[in-house]
Amino acid sequence: MISHENGLFHLQGEDFSYLFRVMPTGQLEHLHFGARVSAEDAEALACKPHLGWGGSVLYSEGVCLDVLPLEWSGSGRGDYRETPLELNCAATDFTYESHTVMEGEAEMVSGLPQARGCSQTLCVNMTHPGGIRLRLYYCVFGGVLTRRAVLCNNSSESLWLTKLMSFSVDLPGSYEMTTFDGGWIAEMRRSKVAVGAGRVVHESTTGFSSFLHQPGFLLSQPGAGEDHGQVYGFNLVYSGSHYASAQRSLQGLTRVMQGISPDNFCRELAPGEAFEAPEAVLCWSGKGFGGVSEKLHRFVNSHIVPKYWQYRQRPVLYNDWEGCMFDFNENRLIDLAKRAGKLGCELFVLDDGWFGKRNNDLAGLGDYTVNPKKLPGGLKRLADRVNALGMQFGLWFEPEAVNPDSELYRAHPDWALTDGLSPVYGRNELLLDLTKPEVRDYIVENVSRVLDSANITYVKWDMNRHSIALGARAYDYILGLYDVLRRIFGCREHILLESCASGGNRFDLGMLCFSPQIWCSDDTDPIERLTIQDGLSYLYPQSVMGAHVSAAPHAQTLRATPLTTRGNVSFFGVLGYELDLKHLVSVEEKQIGSQIRFYKTYRELFQFGTFRRIEGEDAVCWQVSGEGIHIAGLFHRLVSAAPGYQRLRLRGLRHDRRYVLKSREQSLRVGQFGALVKHVAPVSLDPNGIVLRTADRHYTMPDGTQELTATGSALESGVMLSPRFMGTGFDPKGRNQGDFGSNVYVVREIFQG
Ligand code: GLA
Repeated sequence: MISHENGLFHLQGEDFSYLFRVMPTGQLEHLHFGARVSAEDAEALACKPHLGWGGSVLYSEGVCLDVLPLEWSGSGRGDYRETPLELNCAATDFTYESHTVMEGEAEMVSGLPQARGCSQTLCVNMTHPGGIRLRLYYCVFGGVLTRRAVLCNNSSESLWLTKLMSFSVDLPGSYEMTTFDGGWIAEMRRSKVAVGAGRVVHESTTGFSSFLHQPGFLLSQPGAGEDHGQVYGFNLVYSGSHYASAQRSLQGLTRVMQGISPDNFCRELAPGEAFEAPEAVLCWSGKGFGGVSEKLHRFVNSHIVPKYWQYRQRPVLYNDWEGCMFDFNENRLIDLAKRAGKLGCELFVLDDGWFGKRNNDLAGLGDYTVNPKKLPGGLKRLADRVNALGMQFGLWFEPEAVNPDSELYRAHPDWALTDGLSPVYGRNELLLDLTKPEVRDYIVENVSRVLDSANITYVKWDMNRHSIALGARAYDYILGLYDVLRRIFGCREHILLESCASGGNRFDLGMLCFSPQIWCSDDTDPIERLTIQDGLSYLYPQSVMGAHVSAAPHAQTLRATPLTTRGNVSFFGVLGYELDLKHLVSVEEKQIGSQIRFYKTYRELFQFGTFRRIEGEDAVCWQVSGEGIHIAGLFHRLVSAAPGYQRLRLRGLRHDRRYVLKSREQSLRVGQFGALVKHVAPVSLDPNGIVLRTADRHYTMPDGTQELTATGSALESGVMLSPRFMGTGFDPKGRNQGDFGSNVYVVREIFQG
């Protein structure tokens, strides 16, 4: 709800208030962003500047902008903190002119995507002496607030805009900034820095949101934890270069802002033109990091992903990439599809290599003719055969890129984006100039034609060139991309779009407005995924994270992990399989079959349940919760000898209710025990001999089986788990997995009739 009285604005979310007021001098003074308060608290909450101005520049008698918490700040008028807006004129000074409150959201005109489904929008019109107007937009979505800014050149001369943030705000207090950084196969590594007097900048400059620096970030009060303390979360509905900064002033105000990166950004605004900054998401919780994550998850599921896919279960898929790479033909694919279908997969995805001369990553991008050698019956026959096996069919595209060795490049070399210097390549490719209408038309026509040529109900939209050498035009490229996506998928809403950019190079809210899921990382090693999916979980729900089980030893780490753990980690996302199924031995087939059955039983919970990170001692613990039911995954990295007792602590349970906890049935390969098998087998076996190798393909031993009942309060305090392997023999009730072992527990409330 948005209310206004005597220059005081009160935006109320489900559990928060956001308050600001018009100062007598016209600037907007920020008063509060936190727990619900009353508008009558405004004066009590306002900062009380002291009167010793000393060397400060005064805006007017008794008003020093430098020491006040502001909603937006100009430059050159006494506020020497960072400004959210830079123009070619020396100073900027925006003051309140008028405001409107409208029902629903105010549609963006540039083509940028935005969150949908807010009840009201506040637009505050700010004016500048030079005839420039600034509009500040605010929308409340349950637990989340969005803000954005639009600059309009109402003057008679052109302006040069070099920076326009989506929002800026001054929050009283000291904070730590948590960001998620990394690179290819190393996304979302979490780090935290204290925000002090020096500016902390978090920025991507590649032209994309990028896996180098994830746009979403958090500010927390020192000492905040998963379920306590004040934490703010921020994110941007945009897929291009982003910028965020935080800095603490002498007076103890932390200025935070976020928007398009000003790096290389310079735009001419002719008289009458406007520039729209992307929508930013702001979220507060008094219940720690977990509180912010829960709100952001709900926001993404309810207001960001395309309407058709909101809370719609995502299928379990099989993707042929890691199993086949470019080496496949129709028969091999059908063989894989039969195996995938038998295991329980619901969607078969043909990845790269089906078109043009694409037998490696040197050629073919830009072309859309099906390779007749690999697929003599075309996509239609393949899709029909997959459908006949009871599975949906999905296809990979990389429409934004072109290989110089392609029909398209030979016909239109000028369609490739260059920066005027000799081309530099990423994965042997250049990007197409999506700012050109004819390029966008080419992509829309060709992708649409392919999609309509067969029964294709899933698209993996990849992009493997990591930068746009475009400066300010990168914004137009991103608008071009959104235009293409809107035109192709707007009228095909049933197609499940999974966005990918060499893994997580474009994992952002902008892409999520079109694609209900995103491929988190090309790194599918489950132990690496503990970091990647854990990092993503701060900002994004499980329903948007593509999480696949792949082969071990792993392609990127050489790490050998149990199939159980590969499955257990992938359960906490959108489960898929990406390995050569032909090489599975019978126990692996059984294990995968049982994983898929388990996932389908609890899919609603895994994809849309309330997700919690549980702070544990020597393991990673994730929990998903629904009405009367909870599932916890406990994951170990390296074990040590003589491990101590271990408890499972859950959260969000009803203290006085009783629950039954059962481990998910899982098993151990006998081969894992090598020479140790002599301790359990009645006869002595050669650890490298054929008997053990054969047994390993067919037999498993139960592992970590546990069942108990306890009250919610005992489960929250921590119930004792069965012992871990201690070198004293095999105990079927114990947990004997060794390094990278894991267990999943289902905890159900016992209903007393
Ligand atoms: C990228 C993607 C992979 C796969 C390959 C195909 O690397 O991230 O998942 O689709 O391209 O070339």
